[in-house]
Amino acid sequence: MIRLLPAEGNPTEATASPGTLLSEAIAQAGITLHLPCGGQGRCGRCKVQVQKGSVRRRSVIRLSEKELEEGWALACQTLVQDEDLVVAIPPQADKLSRRIPSEPRKVPRVELPISCDWRSDPPLRRVYLDIAPPSLADNTSDFERVVRHLQPYLEDSGQVSISLPMLRRLGKTLRDANWQVTATLEYYDWTTRRQSRRPRLIDLVPGRRTHELYGVAIDIGTTSNVVYLVDLLTGEVLDSAVEYNAQISCGEDVISRIIYARRLGGLEHLQKLVVQTLNGLIEQVAARNGIQPTDIQRATVAGNTTMIHLFLAIPPEPIRLEPYIPIINHPQPVLAAELGLNINPDAKVDCLPGVGSYVGADITAGVLATGMHRQEELTLFIDVGTNGEMVLGNSDWLITCACSAGPAFEGAGVQSGMRATEGAIEEVWIDPHTGEPTYNTIGDVPAKGLCGSGIISLLAELFITGLLTKGGRFENRVGTPRIRQGEHGMEYVVVWKEQTADGMADIVLTEVDVQNLLRAKAAIFAGFSTLTRSVGIQISDVQRVLIGGAFGKYLNIEKAIQIGLLPDMPHDRFRFLGNTSVQGAYQALLCPDLRDEVAEIASKMTYLELSADNTFTEEFMSALFLPHTQMELFPSVAALLTPQP
Ligand code: FES
Repeated sequence: MIRLLPAEGNPTEATASPGTLLSEAIAQAGITLHLPCGGQGRCGRCKVQVQKGSVRRRSVIRLSEKELEEGWALACQTLVQDEDLVVAIPPQADKLSRRIPSEPRKVPRVELPISCDWRSDPPLRRVYLDIAPPSLADNTSDFERVVRHLQPYLEDSGQVSISLPMLRRLGKTLRDANWQVTATLEYYDWTTRRQSRRPRLIDLVPGRRTHELYGVAIDIGTTSNVVYLVDLLTGEVLDSAVEYNAQISCGEDVISRIIYARRLGGLEHLQKLVVQTLNGLIEQVAARNGIQPTDIQRATVAGNTTMIHLFLAIPPEPIRLEPYIPIINHPQPVLAAELGLNINPDAKVDCLPGVGSYVGADITAGVLATGMHRQEELTLFIDVGTNGEMVLGNSDWLITCACSAGPAFEGAGVQSGMRATEGAIEEVWIDPHTGEPTYNTIGDVPAKGLCGSGIISLLAELFITGLLTKGGRFENRVGTPRIRQGEHGMEYVVVWKEQTADGMADIVLTEVDVQNLLRAKAAIFAGFSTLTRSVGIQISDVQRVLIGGAFGKYLNIEKAIQIGLLPDMPHDRFRFLGNTSVQGAYQALLCPDLRDEVAEIASKMTYLELSADNTFTEEFMSALFLPHTQMELFPSVAALLTPQP
């Protein structure tokens, strides 16, 4: 018997035979233990303390000698040997237990293209039926009776289809409602992608409720999930909610989750977690707007290819293996009931199409939202997240690639990194004469760490003030005590521990962090260069740069250019668009023509596989410096560095 002592919650007992992984025994006992690298033994963040009994540690590389003496073990790398174990589990309450505080609730305004005439032929319609109850003189069955009253809405086919679960509920609904009901009809045929002559009856509710018809647009991000509640009669976004994807506990990036999905029950667990997050968000927006989640009659979903596979519980393994092919790029819509999504069980859940394993529906939806595929201007669209995906093109052509930037710019994998939440340093300035920093934190509270924009800002300031070389090494030319030898090499102290929020440790940027960041920014810049070179143009020919994703909201263009993350061009060519993925999902939800456009975008895009491209490797090597080996590509930065006469 294993006795588990979680820091939060009550002690629990679990049974596990020798040879079972501790992480599995803990999960089976219903305790959440975060596995940020998906249980690969890389991150060292699944530590538990074995207080009694014996275990076999397969890997200890992330544990110090002191920790080993104290009984600490990596739960994902440790096997139960002795069934009489006592294991203490440290607090897990971080990202999963709280809402994202940097995302205040607001109702987003999303524009629809003028060309979209979604009202003329709506895919869903609600009709009120005042049905004559059956009698001995009129013994028509319930369903035929409903169909008879629906005739004016059925065009010449005169037919309507209904699912078995709905048929099972039909009799009770009609009688409870005293035969006065509102029916929801779906006219859209998902196979032909045309309006159907034989609609589906997907909902029947008591009373007259023809003035209400709702849908949800969903973005499943690797890090956070977003839901928009949409009034399908007015086209208005009524509300939005955002929350961390609960799958984070099983891995922070897509590869870790794909590896987690290989475990016994891993895929089902990941599917349950994301549905649980989405259901929580749906319940929030429904409650705030005085409706039931089951009043929602359609969902449109965007997300990267791995997230869509996990949402549909399709094994994602081939995505990470050469030749990197997903199981599906254009999934068919499925019923909400099949996924466990808490909306009308008969509603269709439509996952938008992707292009390939690393350019998914978040990007096709993003392109739809930018409208770049309808315009002549040569546009570069970037979604900088864990995967730096980008699309170049215009109304004639589109080419896309994804470069694995890693999560460094989201604050992960950086010693004092954190997500862009309260207490994160988001902007830094350094005095070139003393090396002393000043900074802003989100929420103006004592600092807790560095988020992506803070990291970019700090890197740029260190470089421009000469405290960091082009190659990313510290150079203490002003004799500041802030540059010092740390545990992992040289580092710069941004905040002394006494001034931090918890007073526990200095907030630092280490040379190891800098090297990680250089690799991340080099991958993104090399992506731009390879895309432009592949079509025979210069980066400077790009007329507009559109930045999507959560990152786009916090990025300082000037600093991003100074470190060589963004190309050096006039600032008015850059535009931040926020979450383009959910904006595209919203457009496709409302308008069947725009839904077709996403499919066209996915088919039209040429996918450039960078792992098979020698140019990319060359460009990457050249970009591994601040800002770049070719300074002529960054004239504005060169001017800053040139000593003035
Ligand atoms: S080391 Fe165990 S989850 Fe990363």
